[in-house]
Amino acid sequence: MSHSAPVRVAVLVSGNGTNLQAVIDRIEAREINARIVCVVSNREDAFALKRAEKHGIPGVVHQLGAYASRREYDAALVEILRDHGVQLVLLAGFMRILTDVMVDAFPHAILNIHPALLPAFPGLHAQQQALDYGVRFTGCTVHLVDCGTDTGPIILQAVVPVNEDDTEETLSARIQQEEHRIYPEAVRLFCADKISLNGRQVRILP
Ligand code: GRF
Repeated sequence: MSHSAPVRVAVLVSGNGTNLQAVIDRIEAREINARIVCVVSNREDAFALKRAEKHGIPGVVHQLGAYASRREYDAALVEILRDHGVQLVLLAGFMRILTDVMVDAFPHAILNIHPALLPAFPGLHAQQQALDYGVRFTGCTVHLVDCGTDTGPIILQAVVPVNEDDTEETLSARIQQEEHRIYPEAVRLFCADKISLNGRQVRILP
């Protein structure tokens, strides 16, 4: 592990927060040179906030409520993240699409985990899309976030087989096991400065 200062990370959530938990666990095990300085949720009832609290991480509820547009919502979000000195933003089940306001504020420093092998099955219900299409394999993807929906440069992927008797729930559970492995791994690489970008191609440095 490098001896430089831990990277200041924000995790944006809307729900359960199992990916948040996976990252917390690898940081606490000292495998990732990072500190989660805040967890931001657009829902006050997100279980992810309870996970943050349990680990002494400040939680912030940032609801659409008062904001007239997604760009204004994002401008206020940028302010929250700047106040916390955030260097890396992780989307972990955050159910809002970011605008250019957020993307431009953190260039090449926002990661997302998507439950399919992109560019297949972007958007919502990726697991059900895979079942409906009838693919034999699907998986998950960690990618850099750009202004498109799940279109940014790909960092890591993992393949998961689809069984003929899978439901959305059983397939999602099998994919999540891989999410919890590759998302923290991508964060580790980012924080160790091992990711370099050439156009839309990501190179992982030795
Ligand atoms: C994950 O399946 C992830 O792929 C998708 O949202 C879900 C978040 O789950 N983007 P959790 O809140 O981390 O448990």
